[in-house]
Amino acid sequence: MKTQKAVSLTQFISKQQAPHPDTTGDLTRLFQDILLAAKIVNRDVRKAGLVDILGTHGTTNIQGEEVKKLDVMANDEFIAALSLGGDCCAILSEENDDIIRVANSNKSTSKYIVAIDPLDGSSNIDVNASIGTIFSIFSRLSPTGSEVTLEDCLQKGRNQIAAGYIIYGSSTMLVYTTGQGVNGFTLDSSIGEFCLSHPNIKIPKDGSIYSINEGNSCDFPQGVNDYISFCKESDDATSRPYSARYIGSLIADFHRNLLKGGIFIYPATTKSPNGKLRLMYECNPMAFIVEQAGGKASTGLNNIMDIIPEQLHQRVPLFIGSENMVNKAEEIYSAKPI
Ligand code: AHG
Ligand code: MN
Ligand code: MN
Repeated sequence: MKTQKAVSLTQFISKQQAPHPDTTGDLTRLFQDILLAAKIVNRDVRKAGLVDILGTHGTTNIQGEEVKKLDVMANDEFIAALSLGGDCCAILSEENDDIIRVANSNKSTSKYIVAIDPLDGSSNIDVNASIGTIFSIFSRLSPTGSEVTLEDCLQKGRNQIAAGYIIYGSSTMLVYTTGQGVNGFTLDSSIGEFCLSHPNIKIPKDGSIYSINEGNSCDFPQGVNDYISFCKESDDATSRPYSARYIGSLIADFHRNLLKGGIFIYPATTKSPNGKLRLMYECNPMAFIVEQAGGKASTGLNNIMDIIPEQLHQRVPLFIGSENMVNKAEEIYSAKPI
């Protein structure tokens, strides 16, 4: 058996950050805080079914969605870890109505704003399918020590300095970018470390998977249904018909398509004219990752990372994945966008 020396995430980040302008080590510390929470959530997820953490919490979040117990636990863990660390001045969470301003953030190092979907794919918790955590990191615009403003938080995705996700799947993985490519780390639970397992991830330019909740097609714009018809046509040269794969966890659908090539679409519908997915917690971080891996993310008409958010919980349509597939989907969709 081939033995390979494991590269831990901490070693990797320190090395990668060396030529970076932000080399004070505080981003590395922020990552440590995120990973601590991720390990705790991973432990809780792995116990689902054994202890009483499945099922609903009995409340709804700001978007009127049912909150699961694990949603609440994950949210609490990430907020606690980021608040204690001292490098984060504000947290934006899918589960919280407003900006969470971190109490001890008047330190000169407290410059980061973290937007987070603590538990993505909640409907899959009870059925043992992959779920995850998605995060996005910005630097505040206003000076450290002053109160974080809404303007600090409503930055376009292009301003992200890092983004990533942790997928609690058949193994637990962290995939992240700081704008220097995308790398994947698998949690070795025997040593409690994320170790480099997927260096320099590149999404294939073309793929043969399409992921969309086709059950909603009666509510889709005609251009989206036209693209679905294109996916189902037979054409050897472009490997069509494509395979349909849809789990209902963005994180799991995205991760598979990132590694294998494919397109994920959550379009506008007549019921949800802005789609379902949230710009700050889901679309921006995935867009940064996919672009860094050589792919593309758009609303079908515009690049996701160029959108200037107007609200924390803003939703946008999402077309994301292999570059040529997204280009083709844009071409077909934009002909009949309603
Ligand atoms: P969350 O669990 O954070 O609320 O996100 C669920 C999202 C996303 O993960 C997934 O792609 C999408 O909802 C699925 O929605 P549909 O059930 O409408 O297809
Ligand atoms: Mn989500
Ligand atoms: Mn969520």
